[in-house]
Amino acid sequence: MSKISEMTRESWISNTFPEWGTWLVEDIENEKVASGNVAMWWLGCTGIWMKTPSDTNLTIDLWCGNGKRTHGNGKMAPGHQMANMCGARKMQPNLRNVPFVIDPFAFKTVDAVLATHYHQDHMSAEWAAHVINSGMTTTDESGKKIPVPFIGPKKSVATWVKWGVPKERCITVKPGDVIRIKDIEIVVLDSFDRTCIVTTDSTEEDREELTGKCPTDMDDKAVNYLLKTPGGNIYHSGDSHFSIYFAKHGKDYDIDVAFGSFGENPIGMHDKMTSIDVLRMAENLQCRVVIPIHWDVWTNFQADCEEIKLLYDFKKDRNEYRFHPFFWQVGGKYTYPMDQEKIYYHHRRGFEDCFEAPQNIPFRSCL
Ligand SMILES: [Fe+2]
Repeated sequence: MSKISEMTRESWISNTFPEWGTWLVEDIENEKVASGNVAMWWLGCTGIWMKTPSDTNLTIDLWCGNGKRTHGNGKMAPGHQMANMCGARKMQPNLRNVPFVIDPFAFKTVDAVLATHYHQDHMSAEWAAHVINSGMTTTDESGKKIPVPFIGPKKSVATWVKWGVPKERCITVKPGDVIRIKDIEIVVLDSFDRTCIVTTDSTEEDREELTGKCPTDMDDKAVNYLLKTPGGNIYHSGDSHFSIYFAKHGKDYDIDVAFGSFGENPIGMHDKMTSIDVLRMAENLQCRVVIPIHWDVWTNFQADCEEIKLLYDFKKDRNEYRFHPFFWQVGGKYTYPMDQEKIYYHHRRGFEDCFEAPQNIPFRSCL
């Protein structure tokens, strides 16, 4: 058999996808987190893997999907949040813009699966299936083995249950709740995701009407999390828009690192925080480091983090900013406080062992 005669579309897909294979999974599993630190990896969109020195592993918004892959009928699904928001009916061209840096099925362990909200780019049926089917366990406060819990607001839990996650595995949370997972304390806080408020479960025949209705159910749909870890307090704002209530969270809690969903909103859209919103969020939260996320994933919302840097430099002295931004890359690791002075992430460049073995070139001064 020749290479050509054996080649199929399926073999191409399984040899190419996920793009990073198990590289990052191996890195995460092999990582020994230094005491007094917390390690985090950006999995794309708002997906974070968090690991502590005592080997507690959490995922927040781990998601394994993509966006549009065909033009289809060219229309948005009825009741889609973007259709509700601005009255557009044309399919939005949100194609996935970043590689898959994990293979969810390759992980051997996790202690809890968290979701900030139920939008499709924040939850994963693949990950839920793997966690359930591989029988992953964690330990409770008394050290007893328990099945890995799924933690999220009411609508996220409903999504997991619809997918087949047993009800008793799910913990429905609302602002004010506190959950301990080994050496991490999860404080559940208010979300400010107004896109979630205008999301409906409409079908073609039955379009839920929002006009004139006073929304009261943000807490059922979305939450933010403060994760108190041995390395510091990490604030995950999900897909929150800017809110003045960030200032209250900043007064109530000592926040080290805050993640904010940044994006370039197309005309007619108000979905992601802008560069100035990200800086205002950081200022209001009184955090030490702000990290924009979500800007990476959609072709039609892609934003340039240099805009945040430019405005940060413009305003930092006048406003006496006590934080700085950190610009991450999907698949990258950030360890706090070890990396707290860094501004830009760069993937490992390799070749650390250059000249440790003999060269094989025509002569020494050739290169
Ligand atoms: Fe999102």
